[in-house]
Amino acid sequence: MVKIQILLTVVMAGAVSLVLGTAEAAVMMGPSMQKLTWHYYKVYNTCENAENFVRHQIETFYKNDKSIAPKLLRLLYSDCFVSGCDASVLLEGPNSERMAPQNRGLGGFVVIDKIKTVLEQRCPGVVSCADILNLATRDAVHLAGAPSYPVFTGRRDGFTSDKQTVDLPSPSISWDTAMAYFKSRGLSVLDMATLLGSHSMGRTHCSYIVDRLYNFNKTGKPSPYMNKSFVSEMAKQCPPRTRKGQTDPLVYLNPDTGSNHSFTSSFYSRILSNKSVLEVDQQLLYNKATKRISEEFSQSFEDFRKSFALSMFKMGAINVLTKNEGEIRRDCRRRN
Ligand SMILES: *[C@@H]1O[C@H](CO)[C@@H](O)[C@H](O)[C@H]1NC(C)=O
Ligand SMILES: *[C@@H]1O[C@H](CO)[C@@H](O)[C@H](O)[C@H]1NC(C)=O
Ligand SMILES: *[C@@H]1O[C@H](CO)[C@@H](O)[C@H](O)[C@H]1NC(C)=O
Ligand SMILES: *[C@@H]1O[C@H](CO)[C@@H](O)[C@H](O)[C@H]1NC(C)=O
Repeated sequence: MVKIQILLTVVMAGAVSLVLGTAEAAVMMGPSMQKLTWHYYKVYNTCENAENFVRHQIETFYKNDKSIAPKLLRLLYSDCFVSGCDASVLLEGPNSERMAPQNRGLGGFVVIDKIKTVLEQRCPGVVSCADILNLATRDAVHLAGAPSYPVFTGRRDGFTSDKQTVDLPSPSISWDTAMAYFKSRGLSVLDMATLLGSHSMGRTHCSYIVDRLYNFNKTGKPSPYMNKSFVSEMAKQCPPRTRKGQTDPLVYLNPDTGSNHSFTSSFYSRILSNKSVLEVDQQLLYNKATKRISEEFSQSFEDFRKSFALSMFKMGAINVLTKNEGEIRRDCRRRN
């Protein structure tokens, strides 16, 4: 317990406190987080080098493909926000979360499988897929430029995955809906504004932005909240969708960093100059609190990094399963 508090003080130190008060720091230590342990596999002496094995694999993958950072980030988010961080998103099957429309284009499964294979060789039946996903994401985004935040471990894997429960919002939802969604998972306005910063890297489909380009809010016009020359730039990459079965190109969420997939605060500068790709990101400007956060993060990369560390730490603890609430899957794609 003491350890956790010291750690949080370290993570919390600095600029994050500009935006959130101490009350929030207290609320943050929810019961779910207290179920986890810092360096669980080392503390319980079950797989002392588990975290090193994960890091080594991620370093190897990252050298060949930087896109694993945004891919794992999205995979982790899709897991944690739907029924908690229980690796349910990794399960295969006709009714699995993976098959849900919102999870179209999810990637990173191969990376997790490879890490799992290595860990099963070194420490059979010990390290959960849910922990692997959290650790792997932390290490990949760190290589992309994010801070290396603490990932507490000891999660177990869930038994089921049911796409009926996938209520991930589409990237074109309204601000109010997005906020309600984050709140329902115990996360704050600051967490939302921060985690949306994950869109600092990665790609999205044109179908999520064509409304902004051609028919904003059913007006038949582009979004008034989007810089005009940026509208033209995006329109070249995303032609109007006129027929069914038309290809749906991918565009970079942050054209500033593009294929480098680097973690930067330019995402927030782009919001301030009306050059966000997704409407949900641009909406951070229409609300006083999130506008202030965007301004702060665009001016201080360090503030964004600290807040990101904290929000990822919180996200990784959403409804975790421990002990006999879950299992240690031998194969991340199926329950034992
Ligand atoms: C969209 O249109 C509705 C109805 O015309 C209006 O109430 C709402 O404020 C508009 N939303 C935005 C973001 O402009
Ligand atoms: C839109 O972006 C262009 C190119 O970056 C810039 O020259 C222009 O001033 C911007 N428009 C507004 C209204 O800020
Ligand atoms: C990607 O990184 C390289 C090397 O740092 C840089 O030269 C290039 O401009 C970057 N590309 C983008 C789109 O930022
Ligand atoms: C962004 O768009 C809003 C709404 O149209 C406008 O008030 C604001 O001046 C724009 N900001 C920039 C930097 O273009």
